[in-house]
Amino acid sequence: MDNFSFYAPTYFEFGKDAENKAGSLVRRFGGNKVLIHYGGGSVVRSGLLERVKKSLEAEGITYVELGGVMPNPRSGLVYKGIDICRQEGIDFILAVGGGSTIDSSKAIAAGAVYDGDFWDFYEGKSVTKALPVGTVLTIAAAGSEGSPDSVITKEEGMLKRGASGEAYRPKFSILNPELTQTLPPYQTACGITDIICHLYERYLTNTKNVETTDRMIEGLILAMVEEGPKVILNPNDYEARANIMWAGMMAHNNSCGVGRSQDWISHNLEHELSAKYDCAHGAGLAVAMPAVFTYELSHDVNRFAKIAVRVWGCQMDFDNPEVTAKQGIERLKQFLISIGMPKNFAELGAKEEDIELLAYTACYGDGNGSGNVYGFIKLEQKDVEAIYRLML
Ligand code: NZQ
Ligand code: ZN
Repeated sequence: MDNFSFYAPTYFEFGKDAENKAGSLVRRFGGNKVLIHYGGGSVVRSGLLERVKKSLEAEGITYVELGGVMPNPRSGLVYKGIDICRQEGIDFILAVGGGSTIDSSKAIAAGAVYDGDFWDFYEGKSVTKALPVGTVLTIAAAGSEGSPDSVITKEEGMLKRGASGEAYRPKFSILNPELTQTLPPYQTACGITDIICHLYERYLTNTKNVETTDRMIEGLILAMVEEGPKVILNPNDYEARANIMWAGMMAHNNSCGVGRSQDWISHNLEHELSAKYDCAHGAGLAVAMPAVFTYELSHDVNRFAKIAVRVWGCQMDFDNPEVTAKQGIERLKQFLISIGMPKNFAELGAKEEDIELLAYTACYGDGNGSGNVYGFIKLEQKDVEAIYRLML
């Protein structure tokens, strides 16, 4: 295991009616004037936004609203949010929604206290200072409610990139599994896929002797394989929703990723897909993962065979572990298809003729990139192109 530092000081309020504590939590973490940030309207339709506002009013906290965050959140609304924060003297940002709303809130929080362009953080500058952010989560998926990360798409060039820093960890996150019961099955499945991918990205490591985190990851994926189909069948299954919601947080606050190198190639290649085709992040991952893993397999057959046996119930073929490793990838793929995820480029709305450009952008960004994608293995543009071809 490698040396590591781990500091994840988010306060979690979990369970039924938890959103009614939004006001007291904002107060507890020092907010007096809040920007409430939300998405395309699901929180208005469900009545959640009204309940959150009442909770703030009960504490005498004033607020300004900014809705309209799109899935794969865009830079334009971030600039608007930064202006509002400065004009209105906002001292706390409350994200009410999914990963896109939380990520947009984080970007606004950093940009509001920074003299330069907030996009600098999405080109590698570490986020050391930001307004405090709290979240009321409505979808178990991205894990942004406990992560130090944010992913934004720059409208000019449609470049989707991530930023990181301890200042991006939410001060508090409210997780009420009931709030996820209004999700369409497709979005629920996208969330489950993202959670599973966050776990795989950490499982695929070059660090030896990390059995504790290996076992945590295996356990969480097993829980998703068990609980996932229950909520697809019955969206109102509170207990299954609750298990998935907490797994989504655990999968990405890095408790399972400390002390080990990580992969993130599936995410890097997926971000090009959701930037270009505006597909859901989880759907892109469902298509990317089997292809990436197939390409990576020969790098460490035993690691893929281990997860195949321990998570996917495959029989170990001791004479030919590659057979077992491949079976594991196939079972993952079939599981994702069974919950309603796409299986190839066509089902995602992606196009073969774009592969060269997708691979170039993954490797070089808008021209300044290193020419490689690093993770479990090191890829050049030709490798990335080959992986996209496996997705056809
Ligand atoms: O916008 P509204 O109307 O709220 O609708 C949303 C949106 O259309 C809807 N939705 C959310 N909760 C709902 C609901 N509909 C009905 N009932 C509810 N309870 O679902 C749609 C998707 O929402 P979104 O916030 O985009 O989903 P998700 O949480 O999957 O976030 C995806 C974004 O997170 C990024 C992804 O790249 C993508 O941009 N990621 C962020 C990470 C992080 N910050 O740590 C890590 C991830 O790997 C990921 O890259
Ligand atoms: Zn993800």
